[in-house]
Amino acid sequence: MTNYFTGLQCHLCQAKFPARALFVCDRCLGPLEVVYDYAAIRAGISRDEIERRPRNIWRYRELLPISGPPRTGFHSGFTPLVRSDRLARKWGLSELYIKDDSVNHPTFSYKDRVVSVAATRAVELGFNVFACASTGNLANSVAAHSARLGLECYVFIPQGLEAAKVLGSAIYRPHVLAIAGNYDDVNRLCTQIADKHPWGFANINLRAYYAEGAKTCGFEIAEQLGWRFPQHVVSPVAGGTLLPRIGRAFRELLDVGLIQGEPPRIHAAQAAGSAPVIRALEQGLEYPEPVKPQTIAKSIAIGNPADGFQVLQTVRATGGWGAMVSDEQILDAVQLLAEMEGIFTEPAGGATLAATRVLIERGAIPRDESIVVCITGNGYKTAEVMQERAVRTVNLGRSLQEFEQFLADQEPKTLA
Ligand SMILES: Cc1ncc(COP(=O)(O)O)c(C=O)c1O
Ligand SMILES: [Zn+2]
Repeated sequence: MTNYFTGLQCHLCQAKFPARALFVCDRCLGPLEVVYDYAAIRAGISRDEIERRPRNIWRYRELLPISGPPRTGFHSGFTPLVRSDRLARKWGLSELYIKDDSVNHPTFSYKDRVVSVAATRAVELGFNVFACASTGNLANSVAAHSARLGLECYVFIPQGLEAAKVLGSAIYRPHVLAIAGNYDDVNRLCTQIADKHPWGFANINLRAYYAEGAKTCGFEIAEQLGWRFPQHVVSPVAGGTLLPRIGRAFRELLDVGLIQGEPPRIHAAQAAGSAPVIRALEQGLEYPEPVKPQTIAKSIAIGNPADGFQVLQTVRATGGWGAMVSDEQILDAVQLLAEMEGIFTEPAGGATLAATRVLIERGAIPRDESIVVCITGNGYKTAEVMQERAVRTVNLGRSLQEFEQFLADQEPKTLA
């Protein structure tokens, strides 16, 4: 397979850098991005060829920054795009889809995309230790992919994460370091460690490669709609990796000639208790002002987003908007998605769906336009947040008579 990625480039000043484990421009401190030879890709890629490939992130291999064969992620990505007619009917929408990364492989979140790329790159660059700073899901994925690759692994998380999120890393036997502080404190510590130790941090010194993995979400949305753009995409924002890369994916599909048409408006969703990006949109700021996060949606509780600038750029450039929602709205939306569409997401997904509703009600998303909502994490990992709301089970004896009595006591339930 030919390689089409040619190096790194500063997002701000366009200075060029070699394809090493570098993440900030030494001239202007801007973030570094991967550069590709789009003209060559255009000549060598087709829809037919892509469609013949296995259903994983690597079917878009030409637009991913690895130099040899993929090392992991052979079942990551190509998650379902679920047409959600019941929810659409309830909200009066004509075309609604859920991009369901709650069932991503192997660790049930969108992070399996970015980690497949970062882990492959870590091996290519010769790192023996793979690490990350995480709100939980990234740690799960880094730990699982490390196990498959036989890499030594360190994951750094804030103390107080949900039990299943912690276990979901620990089971793979990495070093799990729970730090006293919030994610932004963990990230600061890891940046210092990455400076001192020769380790590959997925979202720090490998960030330029990691971020590229998130594009696959955008590629898949377009391919799964029959190589067509929706009119709106709603994405959660924490560190700000996913949202701008969905935008970048759509631009690249146009650049390499795989699709024509108007790319979607991309909208940002955050929890009100951690909404630096939404506040910046509302106040017209160029950069988000850091906040101290406080929300039930712990996986998106990031007060100082690394890629906040790119999120604002993408939302504004595509004509999107953003909404923040309360913890109460988040839990209501988790419940609603479960009972309307049979998808159990974590609070991050609840925030995205609840924000979608707010955007529809404000008219930022017209009801007759096509909408894709990115559901990025799985509800089983955060089951405790729904404990109070879940319908009680009914305890019965084992006689038919007891069952018939129970049935007779029920109000007749009509199916919506
Ligand atoms: C479930 C879930 N959704 C969304 C995000 C948002 O990530 P980012 O904005 O950093 O791409 C995260 C991670 O931080 C997450 O765990
Ligand atoms: Zn620069």
